[in-house]
Amino acid sequence: MKAIKLQQFLSRKFKNSGKEKAITMILSRYNRESKCLDGTWELIPDPYESFDGQEIYKPKKEREYGRPLDFNLDNGYSVDIPASWGEVLNEFLYYEGWMWHTKKFSWHGEREGRVFLRLSGVNYKSQVWLNGEKLGSHEGGFTPFTFEVTESLEQGDNLLVVLVDNKRHEDYIPELRTDWYNFGGIHRSVELISVPESFIRNYKLETSLSEDQVKFSIRAWVDGFEEEKVLELKIPELGLEEELNSVGNSEFYSEFTLPRERVELWSTDNPKLYDVSLSYGEDSIDDRVGFREVEVEDGEILLNGESIWLRGISMHEEEVGKGRALDSTDVEKRFERLRELNCNFARLAHYPHTPEMAQKADEEGILLWEEVPAWQDISFEKEEVRDLHKQQLREMIQRDWNRASVILWSIANETDHTDEDRNEALPEMADYVKELDSSRLVTAACFIDEEDDRERIYIDDPLEESLDVIGINEYYGWYYGDADDMKNFDEDPNSTPVIISETGGGAKWGLHSSEDETWTEEYQNDIYKKQIEALKQKSQIKGMSPWIFFDFRTPRRMNEYQRGYNRKGLMDETGRKKQAFYTLKKFYREKQEQVQCH
Ligand code: GCU
Repeated sequence: MKAIKLQQFLSRKFKNSGKEKAITMILSRYNRESKCLDGTWELIPDPYESFDGQEIYKPKKEREYGRPLDFNLDNGYSVDIPASWGEVLNEFLYYEGWMWHTKKFSWHGEREGRVFLRLSGVNYKSQVWLNGEKLGSHEGGFTPFTFEVTESLEQGDNLLVVLVDNKRHEDYIPELRTDWYNFGGIHRSVELISVPESFIRNYKLETSLSEDQVKFSIRAWVDGFEEEKVLELKIPELGLEEELNSVGNSEFYSEFTLPRERVELWSTDNPKLYDVSLSYGEDSIDDRVGFREVEVEDGEILLNGESIWLRGISMHEEEVGKGRALDSTDVEKRFERLRELNCNFARLAHYPHTPEMAQKADEEGILLWEEVPAWQDISFEKEEVRDLHKQQLREMIQRDWNRASVILWSIANETDHTDEDRNEALPEMADYVKELDSSRLVTAACFIDEEDDRERIYIDDPLEESLDVIGINEYYGWYYGDADDMKNFDEDPNSTPVIISETGGGAKWGLHSSEDETWTEEYQNDIYKKQIEALKQKSQIKGMSPWIFFDFRTPRRMNEYQRGYNRKGLMDETGRKKQAFYTLKKFYREKQEQVQCH
């Protein structure tokens, strides 16, 4: 047993031995030993919510066979999970309601230790049973959740039942009527994760820079804390091995510095990742982490102390025929296209995307804006909705807070900045984000104001003072005004940095005529040309993520050009490029060359 440093001894000896606060810390997946439960599941639709679930509570051997069953958990529609059910069962294309999912699997867990069931993304509400025992429920369609199943697992046959409910409601997040399709399903992997009795639930590694030093701050949370166990951090390429200090409540924390010349910082031009491992008793996790600092100063967004202009695009998470159940090839394709568009930034709208996006962005050097679906009319006046908002922010941030690519956490999209409930709730959410992660920037996509028939366009949102960066959604030239109206943006270059988080217009791919004809590629392209000309004159604007990378499904867009798609994409849903793609690509190349010339 290594000698315990005096500081650690003292912190342990006098650690708070009071009742440990409930751990609201997600269980990180990392490279843990796991049994994947993806593959064939049985799906049973239940639109009248009439299945009483009794069969769930009676393991197969006790079921009264022979009796006519209206719901047979052992034999539904066979579907390959992960899946959005409407994409694989066409008769349920617009179905919103209860969908029972069942999975039989065998378990032969030899080792000691504990086992957790982890569901990485289920839209929207879920209730979970294992072998007839109710494990719990979760609300929120895009973040991971776990249940301990150590005592519920049987040696041999097991029956896992997940009731998914994707009905919409005004008090949910997202709210009742969004501008995207409400795919329902188990959209991401389901796994059994084995851990020792005492293990590391999660960790957070931050870096900050001074003139000649890189400061590392690392915090870790364990489950099954044991006095005599030490938590060790290793970064072999830096020759670093560090025992973390126990600070009570099953938490560990340490800080240390290295000379700057010894650390290769992560950046968009050099996305350097280091192997990082943490061990605690028999538990260990490995990760690949980029060390960088992001901050705002004097109206600039700084990456490692240098100002950066964000050449981005917004995107939804869907693929034709797959809904939200993207796989690695879909993720790879997105990054190929981001590179083709000369991007260094992407807005993952309007909800947390698959974790593979941030992992890939770390490798590719693409900065990310991540957000929860607090979109437009959220019931901010209700405490349970504000609690749900915080839960979704916490789960997103705790999942991706070690990803160098993620620099912006967005708390809301297009909420009414004259609404007093909103103006009370969102500063609270911004503070909560900073409490969880003070090393990244907090933002929101907001509206802009105008007067004198758009002779003056300005920002007048009380939320601005709570944000590091303010996103502005404006559609001059499409929904209102003229495409170059942002030339009248009354800016303050030393104020909060602005990202144009949405702008653009619709076009049906392959529809051509004069640029005066709406829905043609020429019309959309003309908006981009005039928007770019206006925006590039404004020095308070530090980036943009136009709406949107590709056309996407929405039940609110049904005219003869749309037929269930929002057509503001630079590409159509199959990836066919429109003229505006090349206009934005050209602008971003010019921005890139400007920087390279400095
Ligand atoms: C809004 C909203 C998007 C929507 C877009 C549009 O700004 O944030 O979700 O799709 O406008 O009208 O196309």
